[in-house]
Amino acid sequence: MWTTPRLAPRARTEQGKNVRMALRRLAGTAGGRISTAMARLNARHPWSHNDHFHGWILGTLPERRRSALDVGCGRGELLAALAPIFDHVTGTDRDEEMRAQAAARCAGLPRVAIDGSDLAEMTGPFDLVTMIAVLHHLDVPEALREVRRLLAPGGRFLVVGLAPPRTARDHLWDLASVVSNPVIGYVKHPWPDRRGVQPPPYPVAEPTLSFDELRRHVAAVMPGAVMRHHLGFRHTIVWTAPGSTEPVSG
Ligand SMILES: C[S@@+](CC[C@H](N)C(=O)[O-])C[C@H]1O[C@@H](n2cnc3c(N)ncnc32)[C@H](O)[C@@H]1O
Repeated sequence: MWTTPRLAPRARTEQGKNVRMALRRLAGTAGGRISTAMARLNARHPWSHNDHFHGWILGTLPERRRSALDVGCGRGELLAALAPIFDHVTGTDRDEEMRAQAAARCAGLPRVAIDGSDLAEMTGPFDLVTMIAVLHHLDVPEALREVRRLLAPGGRFLVVGLAPPRTARDHLWDLASVVSNPVIGYVKHPWPDRRGVQPPPYPVAEPTLSFDELRRHVAAVMPGAVMRHHLGFRHTIVWTAPGSTEPVSG
């Protein structure tokens, strides 16, 4: 009979470290090579990794739907999706060109307002605050505290975020995203786009906080928040502010 060799605790720790390092190297090099080869493929079958999460947001809404705030609204696609659901929808973006595009996208939607204010200047309460690919543009602890201040009791914070991979688990999620990316691209955009790699349609920033670092910040300000990795090089955060929503009349 074959038995697993028993290792002393110290040797087990070493072995675990080696496995993690090897995994990290494998994920790094394999991911790097594959992603270079796949960049061209992705340019031919492009898809919006941000808009892809609108379905998740619409499926995770709070019970009460009076007012929603989308921070860093970009071209206003999410505002347009929230407009039929909430009484009032506000989109903020610090970029003037983005605000102009969002205003054009939401022209004719009377419940939507576009604003250039910072979070600290806003007054709530909001039943929903969303950020898609925005939290890493902000001072994270300060932004989280502002969102907590702005949320109504029972209101919900929904984040779709990015973080640089640091742990073996992060690298494996990245590798899975690299591999699944063109498959999702083929499904969403079957006909090849021949324009080549396009610049991002909005201001971007490089994320610096890892998933685990971000989780520590989130836990300190929003205890009980749930963070999850997803395909598409994204993670999500869900937090519901304490306090029950008043009964909805009508
Ligand atoms: C990567 S884009 C995402 C846009 C949009 N949320 C989407 O899903 O397409 C990040 C956006 O955040 C905006 N932004 C950056 N810093 C901001 C700040 N301090 N306040 C408001 N918006 C900000 C940028 O102008 C940009 O439009």
